[in-house]
Amino acid sequence: MLVLGLETSCDETGVALYDSERGLLADALFSQIDLHRIYGGVVPELASRDHVKRMLPLIRQVLDEAGREPADIDALAYTAGPGLVGALLVGASCAQALAFAWSVPAVGVHHMEGHLLAPMLEEQPPAFPFVALLVSGGHTQLVRVDGIGQYQLLGESLDDAAGEAFDKTAKLMGLNYPGGPEIARLAEQGTPGRFVFPRPMTDRPGLDFSFSGLKTFALNTWQQCRDGDDDLDQARRDIALAFQQAVVETLTIKCKRALKQTGLNSLVIAGGVSANKALREHLERMLGELKGKVFYARPRFCTDNGAMIAYAGCQRLLAGQHEDLAIKVQARWPMESLPAL
Ligand code: KG4
Ligand code: ZN
Repeated sequence: MLVLGLETSCDETGVALYDSERGLLADALFSQIDLHRIYGGVVPELASRDHVKRMLPLIRQVLDEAGREPADIDALAYTAGPGLVGALLVGASCAQALAFAWSVPAVGVHHMEGHLLAPMLEEQPPAFPFVALLVSGGHTQLVRVDGIGQYQLLGESLDDAAGEAFDKTAKLMGLNYPGGPEIARLAEQGTPGRFVFPRPMTDRPGLDFSFSGLKTFALNTWQQCRDGDDDLDQARRDIALAFQQAVVETLTIKCKRALKQTGLNSLVIAGGVSANKALREHLERMLGELKGKVFYARPRFCTDNGAMIAYAGCQRLLAGQHEDLAIKVQARWPMESLPAL
């Protein structure tokens, strides 16, 4: 089955062609980062309008790269939520219109299920069951995964998502959006031990997270540096390192706890923050001690992309799922409500 996948939940237009027999044939992405940068974050209306502009050229590009024609496509998959409603509607309308025109089915995909399954596109995919750490700009969740659609939420962030904390901490130090890659880059030249940030909610039982306090801690530290006679470039690097270490260690402690609680030793990390090198290294060390394994996607499939939507949609289409002609998207959509395959 050849599936055309469309991702438009936020500020990236992603398109991909996935073949159930041959794997990923082509994928293309247009990132709107430059468009939103001057505002310090995503402007929903601008995002929607840009998705409209990019979608059809990207679809043509992917078809050309794969050497395929519209007539070869068996089905469409699009992100139906969670995300920005206007942005989601662009992908949903486009997918439904093409599906109608080409007389093929279309399926709406849950964006976080897309992220969760992205490591399945790699050479050594994880096998069920496993624990998944979903860390994106909008979500931080620990999930027990027994199969596609068999999700048990073990814990989640009570306030900011991990990626959001990276973005806000970067912004308060005057760094560019998105903040995650900026902080990661600066942290490499940080002075170890100059600042030590708290590891929130690790001293009590449970698998929930809270990251908003770290951002306040970063703000106070940054203000002290600005009020003092500090070299502000070095202060940024040192705060970036202390902040990243706190997030990475907190996530690692909770992952270890989730693995212990479930008795599993396979961990999948997915979402934008799973591209973070320090996080991968920390988790790999921890899983090494447990004689387990950590799985993640190549960096460009950690952040938003069309390939993960084409893959997840393909699995659901193969199981017989598809939508009617109504164009429906959901800004909020709990992943546990998805049907099991
Ligand atoms: O999954 P994603 O592309 O979009 C959402 O579904 O939210 O995640 C974007 C988030 C942003 O907050 C970004 O700062 C963060 O992922 N991110 C990173 C890194 N790359 C992206 N955070 C830390 N380290 C990175 N290398
Ligand atoms: Zn995402």
